[in-house]
Amino acid sequence: MQRRIVAVALFAAALLMMAIAALNATVQAAPPVQELKGDAQRGAYVFAAAAGCGCHITAAGFLAGGQKFDLGPAGVVYSRNITSDPETGIGNWTEAEIVTTIRTGKTPDGETLFPVMPYMTYSGMADQDAYDLAAFIKTAPPIKNETPKDDIKVPIPPFSPPKAPATAPTEGVTRGEYLVKNVSDCSGCHTPTDAQGAPDMTKFLAGAPIEGELSANITPDKETGIGNWTEEQIANLLKTGQRPDGSAVSGLMALVVQGGFSKLTDADRAAIAAYLKTIPAVNNVPKAPAALPSTGGNLYNLPLTLALVSLGGVLLIVGVFVWRSSARRKM
Ligand code: HEC
Repeated sequence: MQRRIVAVALFAAALLMMAIAALNATVQAAPPVQELKGDAQRGAYVFAAAAGCGCHITAAGFLAGGQKFDLGPAGVVYSRNITSDPETGIGNWTEAEIVTTIRTGKTPDGETLFPVMPYMTYSGMADQDAYDLAAFIKTAPPIKNETPKDDIKVPIPPFSPPKAPATAPTEGVTRGEYLVKNVSDCSGCHTPTDAQGAPDMTKFLAGAPIEGELSANITPDKETGIGNWTEEQIANLLKTGQRPDGSAVSGLMALVVQGGFSKLTDADRAAIAAYLKTIPAVNNVPKAPAALPSTGGNLYNLPLTLALVSLGGVLLIVGVFVWRSSARRKM
């Protein structure tokens, strides 16, 4: 009899684990925030800190989208038209709807975006910054440009957005950390991803293949990273695109410096540099593409979900054994 009770307890524990796993895997809507009024002028600054939303700036025009992102076996996505054109852009969206999409990947039409759009990064963007950014985006002149339909062949990783702060840190290393992790998406290009497209946090900012280029190791490792650079030299690269040896960065980094980081205040660039000095040094030389190209994803709880499901499974099996042995004893 006692064994039966143990078995039932195990079943209950297993069910609970599975239920928690299922909840965890469910893509949740953003925690409700008080609706704010965005300030487009401040938003222009957030826009620069967010690297000028460069993926949406294409030959079709400012924020008119249509850039192709080839995800290999995962499919193909295209950056969207985020101008205020009501038909082909997002002219009908409210500021709050833009904020929700930026921070959760859920559009007002009920669609979930593939995390090439770095909503996992932006999910931690402060309420005021997010509303200001949305207000700025709403000022983009309408451009009619129908972007091609996405063709995604894999499930979109589940994501539960964290609770974002009401306002952003204003100075020092915490300000730098906030910009790097939640606004500028340095990690989207500088952190390698695993086979599911999730960032490998043991190699945070240690360099990765991205869109056919290789980003650099920007951890304080002296041999393979930028450990020998001073904070001033790092800040200067973000302003001018020039390395301490006088050479210039090229490709994507040149674009994000030009369209974004060069427009930041010296204080913000210094804060980013100061934060980069505090992260763990990782000895890593980024290597050319793995099977799945980097998607610029961010932490989602796939590992937690898998762990809970396996643990639940084990408990279930143990429960079955205990139940059967108790049944046998009765006979
Ligand atoms: C859109 C992708 C992208 C984003 C976003 C991005 N980078 Fe880069 N970064 C690159 C690439 C690619 C390179 C390599 C450029 C080259 O080889 O010329 C690079 C190079 C650098 C370098 C030069 C390192 C060296 O050893 O030469 C530094 C420093 C750097 N990035 C810092 C940052 C910081 C800090 C951020 C966020 C504030 C950031 N990057 C955001 C793609 C990106």
